Amino acid sequence: MSFIAINILLTYSSGYGATREISDEIGRVLSEDPALKVDLKPIDEIQEISAYDAIIVGTSIRADRPLANTRDFFALNRDILTTKKVALFIVCLTASTEEGQVKVRENYFPQITEKYPSIKLISTAAFGGKVDFDKLNPVMQNLVRRVVLEKTGKPSNGSFDARDWAKIHDWARELAYRLKHSE
Ligand SMILES: Cc1cc2nc3c(=O)[nH]c(=O)nc-3n(C[C@H](O)[C@H](O)[C@H](O)COP(=O)(O)O)c2cc1C
Repeated sequence: MSFIAINILLTYSSGYGATREISDEIGRVLSEDPALKVDLKPIDEIQEISAYDAIIVGTSIRADRPLANTRDFFALNRDILTTKKVALFIVCLTASTEEGQVKVRENYFPQITEKYPSIKLISTAAFGGKVDFDKLNPVMQNLVRRVVLEKTGKPSNGSFDARDWAKIHDWARELAYRLKHSE
């Protein structure tokens, strides 16, 4: 039996690797479906997106904003993205609690969705993220310790990993369905 595969660009913006690892996993789940052909690339390496049917973008959050290269990607591709199936996921500490999920919907997604209302998203998700204090310099460690406490209510020194892999898998499976069935 022959069929035409859906060409998907799965691209991510990741400061310290947490969003990249989530993207790897989403790409792995999507690729289990023979109807989905996935190219996984860091957002800084993207030049041309016209060949893709669908674009999935993942970004982490820093100082209450999606990373700058994700904001640039949407600004640069704002017109062509209106012709594609687009999905967006956000990775941050705020998303690791129920109240935080609401804040992500109110404060983080709108920085893209309200700015580009003609880009129709087929799916969005917010995932708890990860901080490795060892990878940060002392000034950043202090800053991020405050962010962790503020966003999660938990004090932290070493590594803090709030990623929920079951939730990530569920979203990837649902996304596979939507990629095949949305207009
Ligand atoms: C300098 C810095 C600032 C951060 N600011 C926020 C923030 O404002 N809100 C939030 O929810 N998470 C914040 N975080 C947490 C990150 O979004 C989270 O650790 C994420 O998993 C990082 O993913 P990445 O390694 O792919 O960049 C911050 C992390 C760092 C290192």
